[in-house]
Amino acid sequence: MQKLEVFGANKLKGKVKISGSKNASLPILAATLLSSKKNYIKNLPKVKDIETMLILLESLGSKIKKNGNKILIDNTNQNKTFASYNLVKTMRAGILVLGPLLARFKEAKVSSPGGCSIGLRPIDIHLKALSKLGVKYKINQGYVIARAPRGLKGAKIRFPKISVGATENLIIAASLAKGTSILSNCAIEPEIKDLVNFLKQIGCNIKWISRRSVKIKGVNKVYETTFPVMFDRIEAGTYLIAAAITKGNLRVQNIDPKIIKTEIDILKKIGSKIIVKKKEVQIMGGKNIKNMKIKTAPYPGFPTDLQAQIMVLLCKANKSSTIKEDIFENRFMHVAELNRMGAKISTNGNKAIIKGNINFAPAELMATDLRASVSLILAALTAKGKSIINRIYHLDRGYENIEKKLKKVGAKIRRIS
Ligand code: UD1
Repeated sequence: MQKLEVFGANKLKGKVKISGSKNASLPILAATLLSSKKNYIKNLPKVKDIETMLILLESLGSKIKKNGNKILIDNTNQNKTFASYNLVKTMRAGILVLGPLLARFKEAKVSSPGGCSIGLRPIDIHLKALSKLGVKYKINQGYVIARAPRGLKGAKIRFPKISVGATENLIIAASLAKGTSILSNCAIEPEIKDLVNFLKQIGCNIKWISRRSVKIKGVNKVYETTFPVMFDRIEAGTYLIAAAITKGNLRVQNIDPKIIKTEIDILKKIGSKIIVKKKEVQIMGGKNIKNMKIKTAPYPGFPTDLQAQIMVLLCKANKSSTIKEDIFENRFMHVAELNRMGAKISTNGNKAIIKGNINFAPAELMATDLRASVSLILAALTAKGKSIINRIYHLDRGYENIEKKLKKVGAKIRRIS
């Protein structure tokens, strides 16, 4: 099994180009299932979750072809509606094919993704909302077996809780439903806006009518397009934190700084100097790191996907900090590993108290989930000496070429088998 070997502590300096967004690419790839057309998607990140989604599409009958920097999704002969456990178990976003398959074929059998290490992550909100569009479903041996014999019908749906995945599944499904749908209490993550831009580009009729409400008039025909996916704001945030923590000087490029305003403001408060340009953010880590009180929240709040990374930075603050994790119930698995490196973090339910002024010591470490893995790299980048990070397959699910990108800006990091 592959591992990462990291020698700290070097300042990171130079330029990093941010890849396309994994979490925007996944629903957009799923949404191509709305028609039998050919679509070109640009800027897909080269990460495992995207590979898995492409294999899932192939298993449904799509033909996938690489064409320069574009990927062609050709659905001319796509006609299967079964998404197997083997493909959905490693990547929860597999559930996003349910909405488009039901909209187009009136039936689908999709493996339920089940729980995962960061929490229960049920799909009840997806299913209840789809049933309002006329879907009948049962769960049998871990599969959602769903049918809409008379096709999907537009409806008014208020989500009981803000869910990124459920908002995406329903926006995609309602786009082909008969009549008008109004979805409220929607997630408004930038990746959802990107999905909506893609859907509009293929001819869907979607309009935001208030901050968290969207009106969708079902259409019966969609067109082909070429669509470039937005940048990965979580990858961008991770590199900004990496610069702050190593007191380095990084130019994080190919991004839209407006989208990560919350993160930029927090890093400024923590003590980093930041210069915002049109498509770039330059960060210079400050000498002193100030303590903070942070709570994760749906966009535009602080993202749960950066919680583990900012926690590592706060270990270096001048005083104690707190983090409240308000999205997932079990997202502190990195704490035990960070404490093995000398951190002093205690947790109580969804709250973590992080003592400051920590010098991380190198260690052999175990990655537990995607964002936890990267937090261990960040800690290792500041620990004087050699750290080894095991189980990096988690990391490869969501970070493109991480060791190459870090090496280019001065980190001593290599992949070993
Ligand atoms: C997406 C992101 C993930 C991010 C998360 C929150 C993708 C591929 N993944 O995950 O990186 O951490 O948003 O920003 O985009 N919930 C239910 N029932 C449901 C659905 C969700 O109870 O049917 C709960 C979840 O357990 C969680 C909360 O709602 O506590 C938010 O989850 P959700 O926004 O749906 O996350 P995902 O779409 O799975």
